[in-house]
Amino acid sequence: MAKDGEKNEWKEFIWNPRTREFLGRTASSWGLILLFYLIFYVFLAGLFALTMYVMLQTLDDHKPTWQDRLSTPGMVIRPKADETYEIVYDIQNTETWDMYAQALDRFLAPYNNSVQSQKNDECVPDKYFVQEDSGDVKNNPKRSCQFNRTILEECSGINDRYYGYQEGKPCIIIKMNRVIGMLPGKNGQAPYVTCGAKREDSDKIGELMYFPPNGTFNLMYYPYYGKKAQVNYSQPLVAVKFLNITVNEDVNIECKINANNIPIGSERDKFAGRVSFKLRINTMN
Ligand SMILES: *[C@@H]1O[C@H](CO)[C@@H](O)[C@H](O)[C@H]1NC(C)=O
Ligand SMILES: *[C@@H]1O[C@H](CO)[C@@H](O)[C@H](O)[C@H]1NC(C)=O
Ligand SMILES: *[C@@H]1O[C@H](CO)[C@@H](O)[C@H](O)[C@H]1NC(C)=O
Ligand SMILES: *[C@@H]1O[C@H](CO)[C@@H](O)[C@H](O)[C@H]1NC(C)=O
Ligand SMILES: *[C@@H]1O[C@H](CO)[C@@H](O)[C@H](O)[C@H]1NC(C)=O
Repeated sequence: MAKDGEKNEWKEFIWNPRTREFLGRTASSWGLILLFYLIFYVFLAGLFALTMYVMLQTLDDHKPTWQDRLSTPGMVIRPKADETYEIVYDIQNTETWDMYAQALDRFLAPYNNSVQSQKNDECVPDKYFVQEDSGDVKNNPKRSCQFNRTILEECSGINDRYYGYQEGKPCIIIKMNRVIGMLPGKNGQAPYVTCGAKREDSDKIGELMYFPPNGTFNLMYYPYYGKKAQVNYSQPLVAVKFLNITVNEDVNIECKINANNIPIGSERDKFAGRVSFKLRINTMN
């Protein structure tokens, strides 16, 4: 008996024919609840869309709104055998250095004079190539300056196809990572690269030769405005040729950028503005 009553109570809760209530509410009560939630969610979606729209309006396609590490560019070398930056080869064994020459060929192909003169402008050297937007009028796309492969002379791979590797006078190419808006150098003095051996190897490094002369990154390649604004940008390069490096021994080398407004190896980033690598040339004689 009691069980029957309970069952009926449940049935009535689900659908009560007397009061015409479904789950304890009338149709109009349910309708109001649904309406409320409908309006509530439409309102939320609208608010989200509006916020998103306003945020996107403040973004510029051609320039990052936030940028970290403005003043501490990293440096990299080519050829790069692996992540460890070790260039080790055997003069008598062509296979051991031919891959370096090929890697440099691939790396330098976009710097061919013919490619550069097609893509880029001849700029006025020794001063920044500034192409600012004037207010809301965007000055896009921005032009870039030519960096002809022939600037690297003996390290260009044009007259000497093997970049000196076959005679134990190898070339290393150095570039500085792109930093948007960076103006390196100061008072018209361009930043330049210098390389030296780690202390214990200082008598093994021998004489060095830099291309372009003095290892400078000309000011005309700065500032850089970003991939989208400056589509054809070619990073300037510096080549270092080792003229008389000691063979059959490891030589640990460090190259760094000299510019009074680029902090070298700051506390935040030990590798800023410098790059280290090992060079070892083996020979049987
Ligand atoms: C660049 O120049 C080198 C040597 O002059 C040539 O072998 C190579 O095919 C050229 N590459 C391009 C992409 O023009
Ligand atoms: C780069 O090479 C091209 C073709 O040889 C030449 O016309 C141009 O003047 C060179 N540019 C610079 C900046 O030297
Ligand atoms: C980029 O290079 C292409 C040729 O490869 C040229 O047609 C175009 O005008 C260049 N654009 C800029 C902004 O320099
Ligand atoms: C290289 O540097 C020396 C001294 O710092 C300077 O006298 C010379 O003019 C520079 N050469 C070039 C080509 O910039
Ligand atoms: C090359 O270096 C060796 C010592 O490593 C030295 O004896 C020799 O004089 C140097 N040669 C030249 C041309 O500088």
